[in-house]
Amino acid sequence: MNKEIINFRKDLEKDLTQHRFEHSLGVEYTSACLAIVHGADVTAARIAGLLHDCAKCVPDDEQIRIMEKAGQPPLQEEYDDHSLLHAKCGAVLARDKFGIDDEDILNAIRFHTVGRPNMSLLEKIVYIADFMEPNRKDLIIMDGVRHAAFIDIDQTLLWIMEGVLSFVKQKGLVPAPSGLAAYEYYKNQIKIDESLRNWRKD
Ligand SMILES: [Fe+2]
Ligand SMILES: [Fe+2]
Repeated sequence: MNKEIINFRKDLEKDLTQHRFEHSLGVEYTSACLAIVHGADVTAARIAGLLHDCAKCVPDDEQIRIMEKAGQPPLQEEYDDHSLLHAKCGAVLARDKFGIDDEDILNAIRFHTVGRPNMSLLEKIVYIADFMEPNRKDLIIMDGVRHAAFIDIDQTLLWIMEGVLSFVKQKGLVPAPSGLAAYEYYKNQIKIDESLRNWRKD
């Protein structure tokens, strides 16, 4: 067993609620599976998946303080929607508390909520694993996404971004500009594969 990962789990279990800890384990395992299929570093995927929500249970004002102290103050969209704070704050904690210095792992944590244009393979894996890990409740696109993720990572990424944006709009909320920019980037890059989206509809 990887000792570093076992120690991260022990620390995380103290920092997170039981629900969030179980979710983090789910993202760890799902990231590992996606890394195996798509040829990413499996240990890096496990660590990024495990730690992606490490700041989730830190109070919002404390998250803001941590980010400001690290010289990475929140963007306006993160002040407007505090649920976005934990991604960038998580990257700071992963570096300063858990000792992670791999920039790709830190970026996978930093961009796991809204994504960004031109994401690395590891960033895509954690973004997708966060959405589809087995503890997540079943959404209408979940079966299709879980199937597609092991076949075409970019199609899956775009599908999730689309789903998240339409959910945000349905609720009458304004999408985060960063999330919108990431979606626009991939929408212009990728021609949707309808057969992948309709795999169970015949
Ligand atoms: Fe998160
Ligand atoms: Fe998460």
